[in-house]
Amino acid sequence: MLHVKFYCLSLTLYNIVAGEDSSYCNKFTNDCHAMEHQTESGTALAVVPYTEGRLLPHHRPTRDFHLGGHDIHIQQDWGTLGVAAVVWDAAIVLCEYLELHPEVVGQKQVVELGAGTGLVGIVASYLGGHVTVTERREAMANLRKMVDSNTVDSCPGSITAKELDWTTDLSPHPQYDVILGADIVYIEDTFQALLRTLVHTAREDTVVLLSCRIRYDRDLHFLTLLESHFVVDQIHYDKSRDIKIFSAKKIKIKT
Ligand SMILES: C[S@@+](CC[C@H](N)C(=O)[O-])C[C@H]1O[C@@H](n2cnc3c(N)ncnc32)[C@H](O)[C@@H]1O
Repeated sequence: MLHVKFYCLSLTLYNIVAGEDSSYCNKFTNDCHAMEHQTESGTALAVVPYTEGRLLPHHRPTRDFHLGGHDIHIQQDWGTLGVAAVVWDAAIVLCEYLELHPEVVGQKQVVELGAGTGLVGIVASYLGGHVTVTERREAMANLRKMVDSNTVDSCPGSITAKELDWTTDLSPHPQYDVILGADIVYIEDTFQALLRTLVHTAREDTVVLLSCRIRYDRDLHFLTLLESHFVVDQIHYDKSRDIKIFSAKKIKIKT
């Protein structure tokens, strides 16, 4: 039987209220999703669903993967960093897609936005990409730790971690051949900042891949916004995890 435990924790950015929908437990027990709200107080509530004796994936202290030909060990820390320190299904699906299509990242200059634990960027480097994984300042220490602990000698690519907050001055950040994002379309208040980051870091020939779980209608609104600057196509659907991958190519400006 499923039980629900209530934990109060303080997060500076998000108020996570996972239990406000009474159907939450039935809808989300397999993937432990949280509904997120920003508050002026910054106080956060989290409801942590668990099956007796068995923590669901986001609440395990560690996750192990074999992707891109290597074993990857990720430490998770939902309690301290929340969404940025756990591996989301969208990341796993994007890694699996890249394993099938390594030419997308091989020998390319790649950036991962909102990288969280960096799983996607780590795999892209194993597949030959020269990758910059990026995050908000608060999440950088954990991201660097995961990148360092999963560096392998035989890697054909390279990886570096750099702070990139979508809401700040983007001028120091260059354009890339490939932009990757897993589960970064999830807070409506960030949509404009995310869009301007994509517009800033993409050239007309840049390949943008966004791996998304469409949880709410508002998430679709982001895709509409994206279409004002990019040609957007759904290129993959993982039915078992309900994750879609969208490609986006910047619309050519006629001169
Ligand atoms: C749902 S998590 C996904 C993490 C990771 N990509 C994954 O799929 O495992 C969303 C990520 O977006 C990041 N994020 C949110 N707002 C951001 C901002 N303004 N600038 C940069 N990253 C941001 C969060 O820190 C978080 O790591």
